[in-house]
Amino acid sequence: MRWRVLDCHSAKWRLAMTGLDLVRHGLGRGVCCMRVDLTGQVAFVTGGAGGIGTALCQAFAANGAGVVVADINAEGARALAATLPDAIGVGMDVRDSASIEAAVAATVARWGRLDVLVNNAGVNTMAHRVHIDAFPPEEWDRIVRIDLDGLFLVSRIALRPMLARGAGRCINIASVAGLVPLRLQSPFVAAKAGVVNLTKSMALELGPRGVLTNCITPGSTLTEGTRKLFYGEDGSFSARVRDMLAHVPLGRPAECEEIAAAALFLADPENGYVNGHILSVDGGWTAGYMM
Ligand SMILES: NC(=O)c1ccc[n+]([C@@H]2O[C@H](COP(=O)([O-])OP(=O)(O)OC[C@H]3O[C@@H](n4cnc5c(N)ncnc54)[C@H](O)[C@@H]3O)[C@@H](O)[C@H]2O)c1
Repeated sequence: MRWRVLDCHSAKWRLAMTGLDLVRHGLGRGVCCMRVDLTGQVAFVTGGAGGIGTALCQAFAANGAGVVVADINAEGARALAATLPDAIGVGMDVRDSASIEAAVAATVARWGRLDVLVNNAGVNTMAHRVHIDAFPPEEWDRIVRIDLDGLFLVSRIALRPMLARGAGRCINIASVAGLVPLRLQSPFVAAKAGVVNLTKSMALELGPRGVLTNCITPGSTLTEGTRKLFYGEDGSFSARVRDMLAHVPLGRPAECEEIAAAALFLADPENGYVNGHILSVDGGWTAGYMM
């Protein structure tokens, strides 16, 4: 694998700016593009039509893989797939086994194989930032069913072609909140902690069968959604976000492309001995306290 520098902004100049300034000036985007050889492989990305999922699809495609953009937003999935060299977009709900079966069948029909599963689809809530005693059970169910149960439902079906061949990679996208709990997000914290430990359990079961399973725990990451909510000029959360960034040694949120670079590392065929690893891509947020 190798790194290609695409942007000439000097690191010194960038460090002189705060995280929010960087975001407002649109800097930090597309700085590095990792290169691995995924020629002939097929990557299946859940939640691929938006945010981090889109960067994952683009990164896999840019490195030679066929890509399945699998998303509840069928139109968005097809629109993204149309921009990639060798891709299909499928409407799929991670809570619905029939739609998962259909998406995996479409993958095998198109390419005859599936090599990398990225369990990326996930949700949280901004409407219910409350203590657990006030948390609505139906909202708890929605989040846990997508973020944790959905990952199980997709994995049990999408891993079959890999297990049949005795080779493949599974990459689960959790969150720093699955390692270090955040207040007022109890179902998200619980579901993502579940994903972290489920990854290890999958690594124990699937490693001997040729499929390596690892997990990425992103810190706060710039997507269209978080850009509006947290990082916009008038975002109602910008004061809170400034406090949060004070705890991130790099002082800025991640770019989606930086999460995708970690996924490429875990998918790289040359990287054959990492299994059951939890890879934090969080600017050092969970490394300790910024006292
Ligand atoms: N953005 C961040 O700051 C951040 C931080 C830590 C972890 N994460 C995790 O990264 C992953 C991607 O987050 P994001 O910020 O890009 O989210 P996003 O909201 O921008 O995109 C999520 C995608 O998942 C799809 N989706 C939602 N429910 C689905 C379902 N039931 N079935 C299939 N697809 C569904 C959406 O349509 C969307 O395209 C999530 O698992 C999230 O928890 C994000």
